[in-house]
Amino acid sequence: MRSLIDITDFSVAELDELMQVACDISENPAKYAEACHGKKLATLFFEPSTRTRLSFEAAMMELGGNVLGFSDAGSSSASKGESVADTAKMISCYADIMTMRHPKEGAPYVAAKAATIPVINAGDGGHCHPTQTLADLLTIYRELGRLNDLTIGFCGDLKYGRTVHSLISALARYENIKVILISPEELKLPKYVKYEVLDKNGMIYEELTSLEDAISKLDVLYMTRIQRERFDSFDEYERLKDSYILTEEKMQLAKETMRVLHPLPRVNEISVKVDNDPRAAYFRQALNGKYMRMALILKLLKEAGEGLQMQEPKDVVINEITCDNPRCITSTEQELDHVFKCVNRENGIYRCIYCEAKKTLQ
Ligand code: NCD
Repeated sequence: MRSLIDITDFSVAELDELMQVACDISENPAKYAEACHGKKLATLFFEPSTRTRLSFEAAMMELGGNVLGFSDAGSSSASKGESVADTAKMISCYADIMTMRHPKEGAPYVAAKAATIPVINAGDGGHCHPTQTLADLLTIYRELGRLNDLTIGFCGDLKYGRTVHSLISALARYENIKVILISPEELKLPKYVKYEVLDKNGMIYEELTSLEDAISKLDVLYMTRIQRERFDSFDEYERLKDSYILTEEKMQLAKETMRVLHPLPRVNEISVKVDNDPRAAYFRQALNGKYMRMALILKLLKEAGEGLQMQEPKDVVINEITCDNPRCITSTEQELDHVFKCVNRENGIYRCIYCEAKKTLQ
């Protein structure tokens, strides 16, 4: 079935339509109160979550539907060794649509291939998080009135921050977007996002280590948490955890029209004193996430009813290359084909379809 695994699964026109529906839902909630009557959403959360899971649940409830699921891997059959594909096939018997968060990169894609109902990626490892991007896009649009002509600064953990990867992929398709990447040297944006998204789309970007040097130029400041759970070394996390803290003093350097976004949870990277600044949009962003998830559930259920299928990736090689990223779902899933997509024929560059790890094949 048509699913949402990566934000580029949807065209810009589809994203715009989702935003229009989300705005209509926020203005006319009663109109949608029975739209999913008799439908069930399964929430499969193999990793912790507050906002994403609860906003999905609230979204389905406000559409008049029902919710079932689990919120930690320990209480599911994954703890007995069940594969992602088997879990997805089985859930397809119980629910009409499912959303999955998983620590392994590419797990929701494996689920989508196996399921007979739509699958929504609610975050896969350090890879991507397309429904957070839906919330981010609507927030930028509602706060600033546009998604073109923006200078956006991403600050913090750009290496493991999956929300950053997805938002950059989405913005690459809008006009005149300048990106300023602010991170410690160790947490720079992964090369696959730089090469496959920023460079391929001819986007203008710069990499800095100082937030103060960038803040006055920004229309949007996208703050992120240092992703403790993805570090191999605790000492490294301790050293980097307070790299950036947005304070009232730093906000004085910013434009009056700048908006601060954060996917939340915040750990220490935004002083609570900033919350009272009208430019702090992160709690409004969490609310926008619920409306966008409502619009998304409506869209995917409608398309499932029409029999719309997921597009198969083209130009792939199967089991000719092995993915050796330990965070990739291929490292744990039983009998899963290793599938690589050609991204640069001339230089023989391939990327894993699950986690986007690079390999060359001459
Ligand atoms: C983000 C995530 O899970 O990647 N949170 C969220 O979904 N709102 C960001 C984070 O955990 O830092």
